[in-house]
Formats: sequence, structure tokens, C-alpha cells
Amino acid sequence: MEVVIVQDAGAGGELVAQGIADLLRRKPDALLGVATGSTPLPVYEALAERVRAGTADVSRARIAQLDEYVGLPAGHPESYRSVVLREVVEPLGLSPESFIGPDGSAEDVRAACAAYEAALAAAGGVDLQLLGIGTDGHIGFNEPCSSLASRTRIKTLTERTRADNSRFFDGDIEQVPQHVITQGIGTILEAGHLVLLATGEGKAEAVAATVEGPLAAVCPASALQLHPHATVVVDEAAASKL
Ligand code: GLP
Repeated sequence: MEVVIVQDAGAGGELVAQGIADLLRRKPDALLGVATGSTPLPVYEALAERVRAGTADVSRARIAQLDEYVGLPAGHPESYRSVVLREVVEPLGLSPESFIGPDGSAEDVRAACAAYEAALAAAGGVDLQLLGIGTDGHIGFNEPCSSLASRTRIKTLTERTRADNSRFFDGDIEQVPQHVITQGIGTILEAGHLVLLATGEGKAEAVAATVEGPLAAVCPASALQLHPHATVVVDEAAASKL
């Protein structure tokens, strides 16, 4: 695992955006796995800036979603589909057809999970998966003690994650869905390159457990230790417990 310590979130965004631009030069139709949350926003902004400046070509890139809330009505502004469209697909000038994700409003959620696994395989697999990390070490929505071999499935969120994410729902934890669909840890590990980005002191403990702790389901992100090409990009605050 490669660990890169950058000064701040902006520098992390620039570094990861440059990595994506380089990948797209080698493979213009790469399938980019994107994460939601606040952490990756500087990456998407830096990549959009490169597109505007003509130094990155994303025109043939494809986008894959990592996870999704279950039960939010279609078009809800905080569904991850809406978030990825708003924060990634539209600013990069991509069409919604270049984007795949699990259907969190499906009546048959299990079938939606299987369908998403099949869609990822049919798309040739994720080339680069960008990951954030929860304060409890979760990746995607694989909460602590998720099986390291898990596939895309329905999960129940912990109170901690619902509290962390309530800031996107008017600060009201009751509005945060209890269930989600997430790519499994086994699914995530199939991506060609994993890039985990973490910024801020609140992530320092989870980052230390990921990088220096034992490989253990209690810290799902520690599964990156199993991957032959994993990069952890952290700012100084998030690196403070390494
Ligand atoms: C959510 C997402 C994760 C993300 C995490 C951290 O739980 N499912 O993919 O990594 O939040 O979010 P943030 O970057 O806002 O701290």
C-alpha cells in the first residue's frame, strides 16, 4: 500500500485528479468508481478544472457508483444517484448514460444488488475506485464487521454513520435511511486501482487502523492491505495518528 501525505484537502484533490487524468490518457473509456461525501469534492472540482483548461479529456470516461440509500424516492436530492449526477457527471459534461449505479428505489432490493454486480462485470470492471472513509473505518457503506469477501448487498447503517450523514438531511437523523445498497468489500477489491482519500483529524484514527492496524473486518478499510495497487492519500491532519 502506498501512503501519500499531502498538505491539505486541496492538494489531495489535485493529486488524485491528476491520477485520473493520467489514467484517462492511457485508457480514455476507463470506468471510474466514484464515492460520495464531502472528501472527494476537491477531486471532482480539480478534474472539472482540468477539463475546462483542456488538460484532461473525460469525454469517453464512464462512471460507476459505490453505494446508495434504500427507499429514497427517485430524484431525492440526497440519493447518491442525484449526488453523483450533480457533483460528478454534470460538471464533467458527461451524459447520464455514461453512469451506472444500484437502484435504491427498486421493489426487489436483492435483485437490484445482483443486477448491479452484473452491470459492473458487463462494463468490464472498475479501473480506478475512489474511496472515502467513515469515522468508523467503513468504505462504501460496508460497516465494521462486514465480510471482507462481501458482494453488493443490502446493509443496515449504524447509528454513528446515520449521525455522521445527518448533516445532508437537515441535521435530522430520522430522515437518514436505515438501509443502503453497497458494493461489497470483495467487489471493491476487484477494481484495478484503489485510491482512498481522507482529510481532517476526524479520520486520523480510521486511517491509522487502515494503514497500520491488523487486517480485520472491524475496520473494513483495512481490506486495502489485500490489494496489489492501493493508494492512500491523506492530509497532515488525517495522517496525525500514523
Ligand atoms: C458515506 C459514504 C462513504 C464515504 C463516507 C465519508 O458514508 N457512503 O462512501 O466515504 O460517507 O464521507 P465524508 O467524506 O463526507 O466524510
